[in-house]
Amino acid sequence: MGAVMNCDGSWVEVDLRKLRGNAEAIQASLGGAGLIAVIKSDAYGHGLETAAAALARAGVSRFAVAYAAEAEAVRAAAPDAELILVLGVARAADVPRLLRGRIAPVVVSAEHARALSDAATAAGGRLGVHVKLDTGMGRLGFVCPAETELAAGVARLPGLDVQGVCTHFAMVEPEKKPTAARGQAEKFRQALPVIEAAAGRRLFRHMSSSRAALLLPECDQDAVRVGISLYGYGAADPDKRFATVPVLSWKARVMQVKKVPAGFAVGYYGSYKTTAPTELATISCGYADGYQRHLGNKGHVLIGGKRRPVVGRVSMNWISADLGPDSGVRAGDEVVLIGEQGGASIWADELAKHCGTIAYEILTGISRQIERRAVGA
Ligand SMILES: Cc1ncc(COP(=O)(O)O)c(C=O)c1O
Repeated sequence: MGAVMNCDGSWVEVDLRKLRGNAEAIQASLGGAGLIAVIKSDAYGHGLETAAAALARAGVSRFAVAYAAEAEAVRAAAPDAELILVLGVARAADVPRLLRGRIAPVVVSAEHARALSDAATAAGGRLGVHVKLDTGMGRLGFVCPAETELAAGVARLPGLDVQGVCTHFAMVEPEKKPTAARGQAEKFRQALPVIEAAAGRRLFRHMSSSRAALLLPECDQDAVRVGISLYGYGAADPDKRFATVPVLSWKARVMQVKKVPAGFAVGYYGSYKTTAPTELATISCGYADGYQRHLGNKGHVLIGGKRRPVVGRVSMNWISADLGPDSGVRAGDEVVLIGEQGGASIWADELAKHCGTIAYEILTGISRQIERRAVGA
């Protein structure tokens, strides 16, 4: 390829072998507890259906999403799934499709529970639900202990079949002092007998997400709801309970390479000026694709197996990298925005640091319009 190449944007590669390996590593570490794979927000940007099917092949039979529509997509991709849990507030209007898809929403208040129960009765069914307790997250659910009795009342509604009870940690502090997490776990343990007495049986219990699953095995309960660790973030230490590797790579191409003199201004408002004669690459991705503007003059990309600084402002569809003189880089060369190349690597948490955010936002912020390619299938 010469100095220019016509190419369309960027693409994401999702390594399904790594995803399955991560799920297997987590499952193997859990002892008696099960794994609920959290695959909301398009499986954290990895592609919902592909991730669900791959995880099902790794033996995962429980999934959690945010919305009813996502849950239906999971049912289609993993027809034998034992649990598909909606973590958001399912609407009464969704109840017929939840019943059809054998999808269980959480119930978050007495009013919500009644609305779902009425809709299920009207549809001639009983809807499986999990009671969501707010033990300190201050988000969805019955506030414990003040609303524990109300939560127990869900079990008495004719249209609902209470199958599970859950909560969510607001924080899991460093291993030696998980005081707030232990306080939440204690509130959960105190609420359980009240709710289970009303249900007349032991319920399926879950509270931990990735960090608690990694650091607080005593909080496991019947299952842990793991998201980010499945995708390979926050669990890199091989000495911990489980270790996982990043699954997603994000790639683009060099569209043009040009030789420029010292003092050459790059991009909008010339926020970068070359200090010596060099080569610049223009690359096929920008903030409309989810490559955040914060990365201008801060981030790096990999080209030819080397880290190259992103220079100038990030544009809507393009970015620039300073290659240095005589780089040997040509239009059409592959650019790694997230991933590995020639032994070098850039992961979403590095981008997140530059952007003042977390890997979750970088991963879920990659535009849905960008093609997800399954590799390692
Ligand atoms: C209720 C609930 N459970 C579990 C998770 C998974 O969290 P993590 O990705 O940290 O494992 C989330 C993530 O947002 C959540 O909202």
